[in-house]
Amino acid sequence: MGARKEPTFMEQSPLLPLREELAQVAPYGAPQLEVAARLNVNENPYPPSPEMIADITRAVSQVAAGLNRYPDRDFTALRAALAGYVLRESGLDFPVEQIWAANGSNEVMVQLLGAYAGPGRTVLGTEYSYSMYPEYVRGAHSTYVTVPRQSDWNLDVDALLQGLRDFRPSVLLLANPNNPTGTACREAELVQILQQARETGPDISGKPSCTVVVVDEAYGEFRDPGKPSALALLEKYPHLAVSRTMSKSFGMAGLRLGYLVAAKAMITDIMRVRLPYHLSALTQAAAIAALGHAEEQLCQLAELRQRRDTLAAWLEDKGYTVPRSQANFVLFGPFPDRHQVFSDLLDRGVLVREVGPEGFLRVSIGTAAEDQAFRQAFEEVTG
Ligand SMILES: Cc1ncc(COP(=O)(O)O)c(C=O)c1O
Repeated sequence: MGARKEPTFMEQSPLLPLREELAQVAPYGAPQLEVAARLNVNENPYPPSPEMIADITRAVSQVAAGLNRYPDRDFTALRAALAGYVLRESGLDFPVEQIWAANGSNEVMVQLLGAYAGPGRTVLGTEYSYSMYPEYVRGAHSTYVTVPRQSDWNLDVDALLQGLRDFRPSVLLLANPNNPTGTACREAELVQILQQARETGPDISGKPSCTVVVVDEAYGEFRDPGKPSALALLEKYPHLAVSRTMSKSFGMAGLRLGYLVAAKAMITDIMRVRLPYHLSALTQAAAIAALGHAEEQLCQLAELRQRRDTLAAWLEDKGYTVPRSQANFVLFGPFPDRHQVFSDLLDRGVLVREVGPEGFLRVSIGTAAEDQAFRQAFEEVTG
């Protein structure tokens, strides 16, 4: 159970022509430590089934014979498989031309900003949201601004509408459910934002463009049954892009496969900036094989959701504030010294995340045994 040593950030040699704004930037990433309960990056705790492993292995060994050739640049078979999954999960049928994919939704987002952000442009987000957003925006040489959330960390729609008017952003990044708060907004709120965003983008040839509204549904499948996905709004709002991933509910964080559902015109714009052959033949084959097991992956969701709610209630009973989570993690606190609680949990083999509002911690929903390990360690730590 020895902890893996994290590489330390070294200052860059002055001889290298590093971009000036990167001089103080450390490589981003949550700790990767070999401990008993890794509950810090919101992975699905269940490994793939033996059947899924066998199918992935077979698919990968088949394409291995053709690795002297570049992969299908447009990965049409994978996009069709993703469309099938989206139909199964949300009941909505999208043609292949409305689906895009990349190496994790991180890369999807970088491609989107490559097309729609850029020097002199602004990207809007909300406070206490996914910590990679400012990094994507920095990479796109754009300015990132955020609007506050309400005191319970639900979306402050008025502040967001005002932010759209004030900042005229080319892109709005909205994680729904939000990481790290777990909170989700209502469809009516999204509609309000989408309507306003029709003309709040930068002027192009003297006319206001739209703000591209990216609804990041990395945790979308964990929403309570009956709650619609933003996918349902795509038909009416062509400036909406819904980003999803196989990293969380699908249990394939190691595969690196994120995807986007958007209007055809938006996919065409992304193709202007994507590197050719960005998805390897191995990734494409493995993802298609994994998607063949969607049913078994989706079956795990109810149990994870239920344990999320039970854990949230347990923490609330102890007097902590726990925003209502629609994802596979819960935020809890406040602690006068959250770092102390984090370290004391780590000493007991439980790795959580110090993230979000001052004094709060976030814990991912693990296996039942990991859940139990967390509770036991937490009771010891907090007395
Ligand atoms: C809100 C949100 N969006 C996107 C991602 C990135 O996911 P991936 O690049 O693994 O698809 C994460 C990962 O934690 C996330 O929390």
